[in-house]
Amino acid sequence: MYFGRIPRFSPSFSPAEALVCARTLARKPDDATSVAEFERTFAAYIGAKHAVMTPSARFAFYLLLQAMGLKAGDEVVIPALTYFAIPSMAAAAGIRPVFADVGLRSHVLDSAAFEAAITPKTRAVVPTHLYGTPCDMDAINAIAKKHGVRVIEDCAQSTGSRYRGVRAGNLGDASYYTFGLTKNITTLSGAMITTNDDEIARSCRAAMEATTYGPAERAAKEAATGLAMMFATHPFLYPWTLHPAIVLGNKLGSDPLHERFGEVEVRYEGVPTSFQKARPRAVQAAVGIKQIERIEALNGARIRNGRALDEALANVDGILTPVYPDGAEPIYMSFVIHHPRRADLMAALRKRGVDTTFGYMSDCSDHPLFPEFRRPKPNAAIIVRDQLHLPVHPRMDERDTRHIAEAVRQAIRELAS
Ligand SMILES: Cc1ncc(COP(=O)(O)O)c(C=O)c1O
Repeated sequence: MYFGRIPRFSPSFSPAEALVCARTLARKPDDATSVAEFERTFAAYIGAKHAVMTPSARFAFYLLLQAMGLKAGDEVVIPALTYFAIPSMAAAAGIRPVFADVGLRSHVLDSAAFEAAITPKTRAVVPTHLYGTPCDMDAINAIAKKHGVRVIEDCAQSTGSRYRGVRAGNLGDASYYTFGLTKNITTLSGAMITTNDDEIARSCRAAMEATTYGPAERAAKEAATGLAMMFATHPFLYPWTLHPAIVLGNKLGSDPLHERFGEVEVRYEGVPTSFQKARPRAVQAAVGIKQIERIEALNGARIRNGRALDEALANVDGILTPVYPDGAEPIYMSFVIHHPRRADLMAALRKRGVDTTFGYMSDCSDHPLFPEFRRPKPNAAIIVRDQLHLPVHPRMDERDTRHIAEAVRQAIRELAS
């Protein structure tokens, strides 16, 4: 029986991994040894010399800015379309985020815009492999080298993607990743730095060793949320549980998933506090090790679904579909289309059982959090106005991608009539 009800995301967390969580918590293993094992596993997967586990990508970015010796008054080029916490961390360290535009359909840093943003104070650039799509790294690295700028890859949405056969995260000076419940792999909460640079690794490791552990029970709560979401987004349960809740929420003017997984945008005055800064625990590492065993299957399913949507939607009038930089091998963290009436399109798709989202990225070049760094960028502005994220998660199969493509075609016809 096919219900044609498709959630916007489904966590990669499984009951087997919940069991790993419970066992790890019961055995009270040495946190540092377990985390070191996950770091080795992850470094080997990326092909990097060093990996240092961190509690969040934003803290990882903060540590990398320190490790690379950026100081107050220096500049870092950041794509205008990104997660607010990244420019916020630079600003908290006294470093000026200089926003550069992204490609309208690639959604990632435009290399010409990066070069145009360089000044004598530029010390680093952050190519953000947004929505699972690697940036044009040949061009970005060539420009960075010419101007003596360090390259920090943001792989928060791109763990496992490749560029010309090389894993994202192994293309610049250092990188960070994040593994929240909505990401392609999860450690419940947690993140990672990778680098081939001994000095950067040493500095980040020393900084992490100086942080204190958060409560172990936090992971148990996160595991319970992961399991609940896993069941609530199960193809047989979703139509009768979360889907009606989302439809009802929308009627009442709210979005329960956005409220649960979204984050209030605040500007940091210093390094983030609480769990975003706490040292990772064995329980997170144990889940991470299990997830790395499955990452190729999880990403492979995303790639299959993303390619099916690419193909099915390429010639649909009225929407823009993604384009990928030459050499990019995306993992399709999101499948983003543009439509000038996206709220109406979202409602029309929901009627057909397809749950979508506007996503969590902001146009940081024109954001009230950063008035003194304001530098409006046209493509980022259009994307945040028009983007709609279609489901592409690994729980979907061929019937789902066909259903989504047909729903998009019907919805667009309905809006045009
Ligand atoms: C592109 C990007 N960069 C950075 C982050 C920040 O990650 P964290 O919440 O681990 O700090 C996110 C979070 O989703 C992200 O999507």
